[in-house]
Amino acid sequence: MQDLPMSSICIAAVALLSAFSPIKALPSTASLSTLWTLNPDSYNLQFRDGSTAGPILENAAYGSGFYRTDGGHLFSIFYLICNLSLEAASNPLERFMAYGCYSRVVWSANRNNVVQYNAKLELKSDGDLVLKNANGTIAWSTNTSGRSVVSMNLTEFGNLLLLDKDNDVVWESFSHPTDVLVPRQRLTLGQKLTPSASSTNFTEYGLLSLSFNTSGLYALVETNPPLAYYSTNFSNLSLDSSSYIEFRRGSLALVSISNYLNLSVFSFPASISKQFIRMSSDGHLRVYEWHENQWQEIADILTGEIGNCGYPLLCGEYGICSNGQCTCPASRNPSGTPYFKQLDDRNRSLGCPLTTPLSCDDPQNHSFVKLEKFTYFTVSKQDVSNTSLESCQEACARSCSCKAAFYSPSRSYCSLQAQVLSMISDYSVDVSAYIKVQNISSEISPPPLPPPPPSNPTTDTDSHPTRKANRLPLILGPALGSLILLVVALVLFIWKRRAADEADEEYLDEVQGMPSRFPYNELKSATENFCKKIGEGGYGSVFQGTLADGTEVAVKRLEGLGQIKKSFLAEVKTIGKIHHVNLVRLLGFCAEKSHRLLVYEFMSGGSLDGWIFHEAAGRVVLDWQQRKKVVLDIAKGLNYLHEDCWQKIIHLDIKPQNILLDENLSAKVSDFGLSKLVERDKSRLVTTMRGTPGYIAPEWLSGVIIEKADVYSFGVVALEIACARKVFVSSQNEEDRFLLHLLKRKAEEDRLLDMVNTYGVDMQLYGPEVANMIKLAAWCLQADYTKRPSMSMVIQVLDGVMEEEDNLDFNFWNRPVTAGPGRNRAGAPTAPPLPWILSGPR
Ligand SMILES: *[C@@H]1O[C@H](CO)[C@@H](O)[C@H](O)[C@H]1NC(C)=O
Ligand SMILES: *[C@@H]1O[C@H](CO)[C@@H](O)[C@H](O)[C@H]1NC(C)=O
Ligand SMILES: *[C@@H]1O[C@H](CO)[C@@H](O)[C@H](O)[C@H]1NC(C)=O
Ligand SMILES: *[C@@H]1O[C@H](CO)[C@@H](O)[C@H](O)[C@H]1NC(C)=O
Ligand SMILES: *[C@@H]1O[C@H](CO)[C@@H](O)[C@H](O)[C@H]1NC(C)=O
Ligand SMILES: *[C@@H]1O[C@H](CO)[C@@H](O)[C@H](O)[C@H]1NC(C)=O
Ligand SMILES: *[C@@H]1O[C@H](CO)[C@@H](O)[C@H](O)[C@H]1NC(C)=O
Ligand SMILES: *[C@@H]1O[C@H](CO)[C@@H](O)[C@H](O)[C@H]1NC(C)=O
Ligand SMILES: *[C@@H]1O[C@H](CO)[C@@H](O)[C@H](O)[C@H]1NC(C)=O
Ligand SMILES: *[C@@H]1O[C@H](CO)[C@@H](O)[C@H](O)[C@H]1NC(C)=O
Ligand SMILES: *[C@@H]1O[C@H](CO)[C@@H](O)[C@H](O)[C@H]1NC(C)=O
Ligand SMILES: *[C@@H]1O[C@H](CO)[C@@H](O)[C@H](O)[C@H]1NC(C)=O
Repeated sequence: MQDLPMSSICIAAVALLSAFSPIKALPSTASLSTLWTLNPDSYNLQFRDGSTAGPILENAAYGSGFYRTDGGHLFSIFYLICNLSLEAASNPLERFMAYGCYSRVVWSANRNNVVQYNAKLELKSDGDLVLKNANGTIAWSTNTSGRSVVSMNLTEFGNLLLLDKDNDVVWESFSHPTDVLVPRQRLTLGQKLTPSASSTNFTEYGLLSLSFNTSGLYALVETNPPLAYYSTNFSNLSLDSSSYIEFRRGSLALVSISNYLNLSVFSFPASISKQFIRMSSDGHLRVYEWHENQWQEIADILTGEIGNCGYPLLCGEYGICSNGQCTCPASRNPSGTPYFKQLDDRNRSLGCPLTTPLSCDDPQNHSFVKLEKFTYFTVSKQDVSNTSLESCQEACARSCSCKAAFYSPSRSYCSLQAQVLSMISDYSVDVSAYIKVQNISSEISPPPLPPPPPSNPTTDTDSHPTRKANRLPLILGPALGSLILLVVALVLFIWKRRAADEADEEYLDEVQGMPSRFPYNELKSATENFCKKIGEGGYGSVFQGTLADGTEVAVKRLEGLGQIKKSFLAEVKTIGKIHHVNLVRLLGFCAEKSHRLLVYEFMSGGSLDGWIFHEAAGRVVLDWQQRKKVVLDIAKGLNYLHEDCWQKIIHLDIKPQNILLDENLSAKVSDFGLSKLVERDKSRLVTTMRGTPGYIAPEWLSGVIIEKADVYSFGVVALEIACARKVFVSSQNEEDRFLLHLLKRKAEEDRLLDMVNTYGVDMQLYGPEVANMIKLAAWCLQADYTKRPSMSMVIQVLDGVMEEEDNLDFNFWNRPVTAGPGRNRAGAPTAPPLPWILSGPR
């Protein structure tokens, strides 16, 4: 209850006592010629959230009367949720304290026209219900004079009625919806919900609406013409004017009496408790339920249909939405000036307006910026037309009002837009955005040169003693030795436990689309009795072979039980069905007696760790262009697993050893022994901790595994590729041994390029690009996994169409604040966790 000083309660009580005699419950009806004047004493209900109301009519569930807001006063209908019946309140003070009532405004008459004290509400003798300002002007009216109204009634369902002498309804509040629907409320033809500015500011926010007509149910942006960001097509139902949408138990239903239709358009958990559906100014349509003394959101109706990025105002004008996060297009004009500028870095939903506004007087200086894999809320995946890209662009160029064209080459579909609201970055679509921009030809100054790399490795070594130290061999201290012992003990422990649970692989044959099953003898002869070993690990060995049809393959022979058997199953089940150019293809398997073998396409380049580290002395290593390509390849493979695949897959063991290169040095992700399938609607799952030290995301320590764990591991790999150094590097300087510690320090000193191994000769030539890659890695390494980009955003950054996040936290090992195993391990909460402490069986 609000902490009022005792004296003020007494004064209030005295004031109330003098204004009213002891109150019983208020009536639910009122008759003609009744006048209510709004003054401070009208407010005789104070709710738990501090808001106050002065009901005029009330029943067991709802009240109707004045409600106070910051800007003024509303005549409204609100839920009344009290532990004790208000009827039991024997005096105004009790009523004022109201036994801890809660409320929620569900309708208001004058949200765009609030009134002040001394305003008057009158049910006039001619049947009109009028709200007048203190100066006598009309703020709101039902316009029902002369229509035989005899009484006003608040129903138990929260509908305010004006009734005639036969109790027929002349006017009802349900026919004038605001931003909320309550159970049993209907949306009939032509009616719409419009959001309020916020949950405390009830002013109408007219840019969005939810409306219903015989062709469908629409969530609209009220541009000219209005554009739907969500729609359901009812046009094959031949609805007539008797149809309506009704909020029923557990659904929003379409009802048509004449067609005997009764369809659920949306369903959500039903409830015996109180619910309401609210459209908010962010465009969401959410269902709330009164539960455990508060309003809880139980469904977000449209998001399931249109996704987080389907809300056109989310990222503002020209903003880019990717997995619910906002950025700006990175495109620059030939002189290096960005075309788009974030209006306010602290509030990304305010958009990225054009630096130079379009001028219709100067169409010859317009050009198009192409953003590949970008779609728009008006472009559906079914739209088809017969337009060439050239005529699409030409049509946009010719029309002054056209600000952008969205084009799908596979469907020859062209969509011209007069306004560019939040765009959707979606790697799975074949749609590209062509945004009209204005070029300023008066700008004759040459493009500004990129800043020189912060350090020159050949002349500057003395000032960076750590650089030399990095080349020293790894010194295994005694502390590390004992850690290795600990790891071994842990491995044995996990191994023993896993051996217990064995799984049956027989059913694999029955699963459609699975790779083929090979007889053991066939693989034995394909590999010439396992003679040409090309790899080895904790799981067993990999052999090169040639199938009878001449296909070159790599055969992995798993050795051991338990964990190995699980890995085998995980691998067959997860990637057996997948074909993607950046994922190593599983061609078949063998599960015979104790033999567990996996047959893959042969990757002649071997694993990435042989190609990126200069420690691999005497070997050719990748140059910068090849490194960039490899990072992009890995990102595409992971993006496919996370976002495009039939089922979301988390790899959980991304590291250079598990990335293979083919003869063209294209990178493919391999080794799915630890991977997890995630059902699409379950965004996180809890699993035991495995993976490889150094690459494990910090939230694993709290047992949370989401696909962002792969983003973290990807960040480590990208950092290793950009720096040509392993995540644990040899160094005299103990605090730099872990590459992420070094990254934090170098970021603080603004000397990121110090991290690049000096043998990476050509990489120093591409200083700014390398620094950008390191920054991208740092973004992926954010300790708070919600801050990490999705893989599709990573791809957009690598493609240069999106800017990377600037606001980074370089304390990569700070774990999220959740209680979990291992949290207080070190006793000193500020110490970073030892990253190798949780080694798995490989
Ligand atoms: C409520 O929102 C409207 C529209 O956004 C704004 O003009 C008004 O100042 C706001 N009122 C208060 C009290 O914040
Ligand atoms: C109402 O009753 C519930 C359960 O008896 C209790 O938890 C809650 O605190 C009460 N609310 C108020 C406002 O007193
Ligand atoms: C009466 O008051 C309302 C609200 O307080 C104000 O908007 C309106 O301009 C006033 N009208 C006159 C005639 O003073
Ligand atoms: C009453 O009539 C006025 C003027 O025609 C109109 O602005 C207002 O919206 C009407 N009120 C209702 C509740 O329909
Ligand atoms: C008026 O409201 C009360 C309580 O909500 C209800 O019982 C009664 O039937 C209503 N009267 C009419 C005429 O609808
Ligand atoms: C229904 O509303 C949509 C969206 O505003 C509009 O495109 C359509 O033409 C309307 N249909 C009818 C029958 O009015
Ligand atoms: C709705 O469906 C009908 C056929 O059922 C189709 O002709 C019409 O184009 C569709 N409308 C929209 C807006 O998709
Ligand atoms: C209308 O079209 C939808 C989708 O095409 C279909 O599922 C539905 O059964 C159709 N309804 C009628 C009444 O034909
Ligand atoms: C529609 O269906 C629901 C449940 O299936 C039923 O309760 C309701 O009476 C039906 N309404 C109409 C108008 O048919
Ligand atoms: C950002 O701006 C939007 C639109 O003006 C506003 O609704 C939102 O509350 C703002 N968010 C923050 C965090 O300021
Ligand atoms: C598309 O347009 C071209 C040229 O206008 C025409 O030859 C072709 O038949 C059209 N295709 C379809 C499917 O309409
Ligand atoms: C547009 O381009 C023409 C020719 O290139 C140039 O003379 C003119 O100044 C440009 N207009 C603006 C506004 O830059």
